[in-house]
Amino acid sequence: MIKSKMKKAGFIFDLDGVIVDTAKYHYLAWKNLANELGIEFTEADNEKFKGVSRKRCLELLLEMGNITVSKEQFDRWLEEKNEDYLKYISKMDKKEILPDVTKVLDYIKDKGIPMALGSASKNAVSILEKVALMSYFDAIVDGTQVTKAKPDPEVFLIAAKKIGAEPENCVVFEDALAGIEAANIAGMESIGIGDVKILSDADHGFNNFTEIDVKFLDDLILLLESKN
Ligand code: BG6
Ligand code: MG
Repeated sequence: MIKSKMKKAGFIFDLDGVIVDTAKYHYLAWKNLANELGIEFTEADNEKFKGVSRKRCLELLLEMGNITVSKEQFDRWLEEKNEDYLKYISKMDKKEILPDVTKVLDYIKDKGIPMALGSASKNAVSILEKVALMSYFDAIVDGTQVTKAKPDPEVFLIAAKKIGAEPENCVVFEDALAGIEAANIAGMESIGIGDVKILSDADHGFNNFTEIDVKFLDDLILLLESKN
């Protein structure tokens, strides 16, 4: 391949459930609120909450329980869920980085390929600081910067722009169905991290980062750089 024809690749990572295991804390906090409201809430229900904004999650929960509330009560429950979640994540440190994530981040960083975070969470920066991963990212796009929730591709399109890569030259790592859908709509390569049956719409699927080897990453980079 002629080097000059190659495009600049970009790597975009979701946060919750991809880089750190916070998906379990979101689940526990929603389950606590659901119990309080008399709504049964299972891990299967939680799949629909992954990748989705806090507000949309509460709307989904209230739909499940057939509950309609005032704006004030809605906001109080949003706040309650977040305070509960913040208690779970308050003691987070580097140990909660998922296995081999740092190995992959180091490899991509060493190649000089820009990396961005693309998360629906408004707590993303605080979590990245807790686990000391801020310095890896050339751009951070989080729940405070987007107006449309995944599966809308907005978060990933802003991330690509911020790192100066075209959408088709980017790859997205995601644990949520809504996130895979968003990456696919954005025209990006999608990598599902988690249950490959649930994330079957992804271009590639892995249970976790320990299954991702250097050969896969090299092939992926070549593929991204050759797309135009
Ligand atoms: C996503 C999670 O990353 O962030 C969702 O997958 C969560 O489950 C969303 O609802 C919003 O997070 P936060 O931290 O702003 O409540
Ligand atoms: Mg996620």
